[in-house]
Amino acid sequence: MREKLVAGNWKMHGGLAQNEALLEQVIAGMENVRGMGCAVCVPFPYLFQAQSMLHGTAISWGAQNLSQHDKGAFTGEVSASMLLDFGCRYAIVGHSERRAIFGDDDATVALKFEAAQRAGLIPILCVGETLAERESGVTEAVVARQIDAVTGKLGVAALSKAVLAYEPVWAIGTGKTASPDQAQAVHAFIRGKIAGQSKDVAENLVIQYGGSVKGANAAELFAMPDIDGGLIGGAALDAQEFLAICRAAQR
Ligand code: PGA
Repeated sequence: MREKLVAGNWKMHGGLAQNEALLEQVIAGMENVRGMGCAVCVPFPYLFQAQSMLHGTAISWGAQNLSQHDKGAFTGEVSASMLLDFGCRYAIVGHSERRAIFGDDDATVALKFEAAQRAGLIPILCVGETLAERESGVTEAVVARQIDAVTGKLGVAALSKAVLAYEPVWAIGTGKTASPDQAQAVHAFIRGKIAGQSKDVAENLVIQYGGSVKGANAAELFAMPDIDGGLIGGAALDAQEFLAICRAAQR
């Protein structure tokens, strides 16, 4: 049985004092939340702080990106083994902001996914269509292409040690959440597509929804059969909102 996973994606937000207050509240609030997984993906400089504060709690932590290279002359890059040094469990790969602003194409995302797994990290692979793509009816084709870039290179079994996040680009940071039915339709498509290659991998794969999830809409999204929690941007910066979302993911 899949357990739901709620992961915060802080993006480029935070500061030492602000993070400390946020994490203290999340740690306290999570003490009586059971039957779900909880994680925060923080900016690189705050991994040490996340590790110091979250070590020994039920909350995992991770990064929002990593290098596809293991080591070498790559100025400004951060490798998977460096993330492991700070106790990371997860690394987000292929977030739409990385794809759109920093040029992470499907091939690069597949290399980053592979680099994360090679080091023992769990990649959270983000996929999702833009508004123009949805309106021209190619949502499934786009999502399939983004997944195939990884499974075509690494095999479908690679998804057995990964998390998928369906994040329609038009719903990210816009306040426009996909309706539970809209999201479920794409989640079911994704799981069905993967089941075509491996029923077992498909059944066990955690597929998160991301895009303007908040305390007020989490429960109805998470009630859908193929939505296994969420990747949370803005609402992850507010402890009470984030905790409400975590509670909505409880079994
Ligand atoms: P949002 O971001 O919750 O602020 O829409 C989600 C994400 O980008 O992962």
